[in-house]
Amino acid sequence: MIQEVNSELKDSSVVTKLEAPVLNVSGLDVFINKTNILKDINLQVPRNQITCIIGPSGSGKSTLIRSINRINDDVLGYEKQGDIHFQNASIFKKNIDVASLRKNIGMVFQKPCVFPKSIAENVLFGIQHSKKLSKIEKAEIVEKQLKAAALWDEVSQRLDQRGSSLSIGQQQRLCISRTLAMEPQVILLDEPTSSLDPVSSRAIEKMMLDLKEQYTIVFVTHNIQQAKRIADRVVFMCEGEIIEQGTTNEIFTKSKHPKTRSYLVDEYCDC
Ligand SMILES: Nc1ncnc2c1ncn2[C@@H]1O[C@H](COP(=O)(O)OP(=O)(O)OP(=O)(O)O)[C@@H](O)[C@H]1O
Ligand SMILES: [Mg+2]
Repeated sequence: MIQEVNSELKDSSVVTKLEAPVLNVSGLDVFINKTNILKDINLQVPRNQITCIIGPSGSGKSTLIRSINRINDDVLGYEKQGDIHFQNASIFKKNIDVASLRKNIGMVFQKPCVFPKSIAENVLFGIQHSKKLSKIEKAEIVEKQLKAAALWDEVSQRLDQRGSSLSIGQQQRLCISRTLAMEPQVILLDEPTSSLDPVSSRAIEKMMLDLKEQYTIVFVTHNIQQAKRIADRVVFMCEGEIIEQGTTNEIFTKSKHPKTRSYLVDEYCDC
């Protein structure tokens, strides 16, 4: 009996269930110019898992993940009610260091945002402002993070060339390595593969599956099959609300809500 319990505890999925979530969104309402964009969002994001957020255009997916690292703070007319906890502390508490929050909760956008600098300088762009690094340390970080983003083999001989000389798929992986260089705990990705061809998209999907060993990932996608391939948990949003959420198996094989079923079958939601 004791042996059975011990072996169960070694199973990482059981351990994860016992752990507190890395992110806990509770009763979050977001208003932009008094329009209620997000409605009573309650969401727990477990450590070392991929949580995919799916839903039709305009359902609030980007607004939700942009609230998690407080990028929305800069939007004119933005107001919120409710709370978001990152590792048990409110991200809205007074005197919080927002730069440090964004270092811990990194973000990758839909279109690759490559700076007019070399490939190596792009990887180091965020980190070199916060740390003094020797030449050797810089070279080590560049190699490590380009390897983690599955780009090293393609660029190791051209690190001094401009980031913009890379293909769009490579540029997106470069942006991911720049985010990883900041050593975040959570990575938020807002449709990172929507402008990529299927081969580049699959490379990023594979990378996500490798990265979740070390990071907690929140991944917004329009691509239902992509969510099925990579997600541990799926959150379905429509018109600013979470309609349903659960494990990938629960959502894809036994979803309870007709709106979820309709969206999964023909990507249509009559919200
Ligand atoms: N800065 C803004 N000002 C006014 N309305 C906004 C702003 N940002 C978002 N919205 C509105 O909030 C709603 C949710 O937008 P959001 O971008 O979060 O949706 P989404 O699910 O990410 O859509 P998509 O799949 O097209 O990216 C939309 O109706 C959008 O028009
Ligand atoms: Mg969006």
